[in-house]
Amino acid sequence: MRAAGILGTGAYLPEKILTNQDLEEMVDTSDDWIVSRTGIRERRISAEGEAASDLAYKAAQQALETAGLDAEQIDLIIVATITPDTTFPSTANLIQERLGAKKAAAFDLAAACSGFLYGVATASQFIQNGLYRYALVIGVECLSRIVDWTDRNTCVLFGDGAGAAVLGPVEDGSGFLSFDLGSDGAGGELLKLPAGGSRMPASEETIANKQHFLQMAGSDVFKFAVRVMGSSAEAAIEKAGLTKEDISLLVPHQANMRIIDAAVKRLGLPIEKVVVNLDRYGNMSAASIPVALDEAAKNGKIKQGDHLVLVGFGGGLTWGASVLKW
Ligand code: ACO
Repeated sequence: MRAAGILGTGAYLPEKILTNQDLEEMVDTSDDWIVSRTGIRERRISAEGEAASDLAYKAAQQALETAGLDAEQIDLIIVATITPDTTFPSTANLIQERLGAKKAAAFDLAAACSGFLYGVATASQFIQNGLYRYALVIGVECLSRIVDWTDRNTCVLFGDGAGAAVLGPVEDGSGFLSFDLGSDGAGGELLKLPAGGSRMPASEETIANKQHFLQMAGSDVFKFAVRVMGSSAEAAIEKAGLTKEDISLLVPHQANMRIIDAAVKRLGLPIEKVVVNLDRYGNMSAASIPVALDEAAKNGKIKQGDHLVLVGFGGGLTWGASVLKW
């Protein structure tokens, strides 16, 4: 079976910056509370009329350019998102048309913040078994559209952005060495967007009750995240036949610095080996890991032959980790 790896990455962050100071004007919060409890200082907010596919398209173009491929060569597009432009057509369909990726199959994948990991795990199977050669996996969110801007418990945490990766066959032992994916539907209630689906279609009542906004039991999600980030990363390292000492870089989901710190402590990694950008972007759900990966690749943090661990958790509940040899 051939190996699948990353041939190029890209990212796009909307221009508009919303700082903690801006939020102080909007809800009863403070820069000090947000920084000390989360590590977040500012986040990006997409412009009026700018939707997930607009962000994703720009990240995808960059990833194709870095990989040195044309859109026509792409066989598969997976968009991981919980904030698609529309329920259908999928955001992947919109990207396929806009890029001119004429031969690509395309679909969206919903695994919240774990979506990018679920996406690369899925795409790499097609490449490994020879059905497809090149796949484009995008993590994109416009979370600002589903956040209740009057709820201080959630609105300070999230941001908008897109990250993309082109996957293809690789040699010399590089590529994805392992995946560890998991789900615990019993925790679905902890993190959800209640209305707008077939269970609770949109109505005057759902709007009045603010049921089209993200709802979260923060401290329960926090405990789950601390547990699963460490255990999933460890499982992926073991499945790859490696030890913690072999890991050059950790690219974690960017939800909360205290969650990242706990995972780093458990893995025994020095903080220099961890990619952190939540201070600038907040939690961008499915976009957090690919944006962090793109930044690390472009600022020289990753060298050829490095072993990276990507790890995330999110709504569902879901989690995932992977060891990737660059
Ligand atoms: N500013 C000021 N005070 C606040 C704010 C705020 N922005 N938000 C909450 N508080 C208050 C609360 O009201 C509470 O006050 P009370 O004690 O008087 O009731 C107090 O701060 C403490 O609240 P906690 O929830 O206990 O604070 P905690 O230390 O747990 O931090 C946080 C909250 C940051 C949300 C944390 O629990 C967390 O990061 N959880 C994980 C969130 C996460 O990762 N979600 C992933 C979602 S991604 C996806 O799949 C979409």
